[in-house]
Amino acid sequence: MFFWICSSFLQKFYFCVSFLIIIMERENVGATNSSDSKLKSSYNFGKSFLGLDKCNACIGTSACKKFFKEEIRFQNWLAPHLRLPPADLQRYAGNHSDDGESWRPVEIYRLSSKSQHDLADKRICSTFTKKKLCSIEMILKKTKRFQKWKTAKRLTPDLVQGLPVQFLRCPSQRLLDRIIRRYTEVFDACSVYMTHLTDKDKMRLLYTLSVNAHPIVLQIFPGAEGWPFPKYLGSCGRLFVSTSSHPLISLNDSAPEIAADLVYQLLQTIHHLSNNDLNYFFYFTQIDGSTFGTFSDGRLFVRDTSSLGIIDLQNEKSDRDRNIEETDLFSCLSSDCPPILSSCSNITERQNLILVCKNILPYLLSGKFPGSTQQEIDKFIGVCSNNLINDLEAWKISEKLMNILRPWRACDPRFAYRYPECKYS
Ligand SMILES: *[C@@H]1O[C@H](CO)[C@@H](O)[C@H](O)[C@H]1NC(C)=O
Ligand SMILES: *[C@@H]1O[C@H](CO)[C@@H](O)[C@H](O)[C@H]1NC(C)=O
Ligand SMILES: *[C@@H]1O[C@H](CO)[C@@H](O)[C@H](O)[C@H]1NC(C)=O
Repeated sequence: MFFWICSSFLQKFYFCVSFLIIIMERENVGATNSSDSKLKSSYNFGKSFLGLDKCNACIGTSACKKFFKEEIRFQNWLAPHLRLPPADLQRYAGNHSDDGESWRPVEIYRLSSKSQHDLADKRICSTFTKKKLCSIEMILKKTKRFQKWKTAKRLTPDLVQGLPVQFLRCPSQRLLDRIIRRYTEVFDACSVYMTHLTDKDKMRLLYTLSVNAHPIVLQIFPGAEGWPFPKYLGSCGRLFVSTSSHPLISLNDSAPEIAADLVYQLLQTIHHLSNNDLNYFFYFTQIDGSTFGTFSDGRLFVRDTSSLGIIDLQNEKSDRDRNIEETDLFSCLSSDCPPILSSCSNITERQNLILVCKNILPYLLSGKFPGSTQQEIDKFIGVCSNNLINDLEAWKISEKLMNILRPWRACDPRFAYRYPECKYS
């Protein structure tokens, strides 16, 4: 209570800020002594907005404390009447601070839209209990799939078969082991065995994987290890937080040197996603103006991995596809049943390039360069969006386009991700 009364006057009364800090410190001590129950109770207003009332049919709670302590804020979060942002967005802009002083922009996501979540929850309740409201978790717990998860020592392909995410369409044991080893919502035991996961953790992981693998991709392929994905900062209920970005769709009108730099990075990224040390081939089933984005330092990365699939190149081709995909309740948590997913057996490397050439390059590169350069660029875009015969040709085209763009990439502080190093090369 004090906190909120106080916060609405924050800007006017400096003493109030000090008071606030004292209160927060008290709360903090209380919280560490007796779990976070005390903290939670004073912030009940946002529980259903966050989806915290649905846990453990949720992503997790690792970032909840930060939400409750307002170290993660939505825009308007501190407004006098606690106006929450509209519940039906899938992405929100926010700010994050570790010390309450310096703030960094973040993005706060839902796994799927609130209306889709609500629809799925209602459908499950009415099917299994004939009621409008019920505990989704209780129903999910009774499923055959979850009973199998409970006793499983290791995450094996049969435990994820039929889940409606492209990422798990043809999973190798190596990939599934990586998920368990790298799952950051629990303390990292660096083990491929699920012994460090409680039933609650297993439910959360299974739920997340069933709705949208995006937060899992960010956790298991961290940017710090060179993967082109945003940083995962934690979750609360059915929301999760990652570093912020500008989608490419907002950069259509960028100057030629910026467009050249973006496309150059884009082609590099596409190449890296099919040729990397770990021998994982990432492919897209769909690409649009918000699939990729840039950080504030100008670096490009994959902003939305929900349409991303993965093929383990260490697996035999013939082992990749599974024929029978039995579906169950978990196959229908976010989408209509049965889910429509692409098969893995005929995915090619050139597919990523074709999608980029069709859906992104024309917007970034059209009409920005002098005569002959523009003609060459347009010719390449024409070829790569229609007539790529094989992966080798795709790679050659992509290399040629990079050669055309390279001299157009400027070296100045706007490109902080490679400045000032670019001055010396
Ligand atoms: C984040 O903080 C900055 C500076 O304090 C502010 O200008 C911006 O509007 C905030 N963004 C959001 C989404 O709250
Ligand atoms: C901007 O580019 C995106 C692709 O990145 C495209 O989908 C969108 O339609 C473009 N917008 C305009 C106004 O041209
Ligand atoms: C892959 O094969 C399926 C049918 O086997 C077909 O519908 C689909 O278009 C193919 N995809 C590609 C990219 O060739």
